[in-house]
Amino acid sequence: MSVGVLTETIENGTYRVGRSAIPINPHKDNPFIPGPQFYLPAGDSLERIAWAVGQNLPVLLIGETGVGKTLSVRHLAHVTNNGFRRVNLNGMTTVDEFVGKLMINESGTYWVNGILIDAMEAGDWLLIDEINACLPEIAFCLHSLLDDDRMIVLSEYDGRIVRPNPNFRLFASMNPHEDRRYGGTKPLNEALLDRFPVTIRMEYLPMEVEIEVVMRQSGNEDRALVERMVRVAHDAREAMRNEKVFCTFSTRRLIDWARMAAQFDPMEAAASTVFSKVNPFDAKVLEDIVDNHF
Ligand SMILES: Nc1ncnc2c1ncn2[C@@H]1O[C@H](COP(=O)(O)OP(=O)(O)OP(=O)(O)O)[C@@H](O)[C@H]1O
Ligand SMILES: [Mg+2]
Repeated sequence: MSVGVLTETIENGTYRVGRSAIPINPHKDNPFIPGPQFYLPAGDSLERIAWAVGQNLPVLLIGETGVGKTLSVRHLAHVTNNGFRRVNLNGMTTVDEFVGKLMINESGTYWVNGILIDAMEAGDWLLIDEINACLPEIAFCLHSLLDDDRMIVLSEYDGRIVRPNPNFRLFASMNPHEDRRYGGTKPLNEALLDRFPVTIRMEYLPMEVEIEVVMRQSGNEDRALVERMVRVAHDAREAMRNEKVFCTFSTRRLIDWARMAAQFDPMEAAASTVFSKVNPFDAKVLEDIVDNHF
């Protein structure tokens, strides 16, 4: 993937990322607007996400854990004053929670919105995590939202048609399913995949950016040490691509390791932040990789 330096600027009420622009929401009192995010520009995925947002197109983000899928969307929501909500469809989320449900009290039945309808009506951005794990009923409901008619019919309730507030945006994310490292994941149903007009594959951060991110987020100021740790992560990812290990090495994991290595020896710190998270076979391979660098 090419790594350009993307400029992010505010121009005439829009937030511009490279060639893409998103209108800045003038309303700042929404409690769902995220706070400032520590985000360093990396690659061109942010520009493409911003383009899709500007075009009001739903986006599917595919990438290993910790590549910055959630952060990218949260960052754009923050800089454009848009509410941001997340839901995880890991198989436990029911249609009731997602769309809504009928409740009963002494005066009769009433409807309670689920997170999707709430976000659609409020005009917030909704990120659906682990979309590939969603129940078929939820997938079906998303079809009508993603189809050209862009609406949901509350057939369980009064047949009301819900059309999204113009500020509503839909994002979905999933880990790549090509390999089966993520427990419980399955490929995204082809019909649902096909309905996302923009699908972006995200990669781990380029080495120089990842070093900065790890130093800033872990508080470990020893650049030479962090650089070696990032090299370990790169080798581990290479080992994963070559099927020598079956676990990934995320930026998140690197941050945890670097934070602990500010006080402990790197191998000792890795025992509690890296090796302990994987099976004994993978731990041995990772230990050898760490050994090569320290
Ligand atoms: N561009 C970036 N700038 C700053 N930090 C970053 C960047 N990309 C990733 N990170 C770091 O990686 C962490 C993980 O990112 P994020 O939560 O967005 O990953 P994800 O792709 O959503 O992972 P998952 O699949 O597990 O949900 C962030 O909290 C941040 O510390
Ligand atoms: Mg995420």
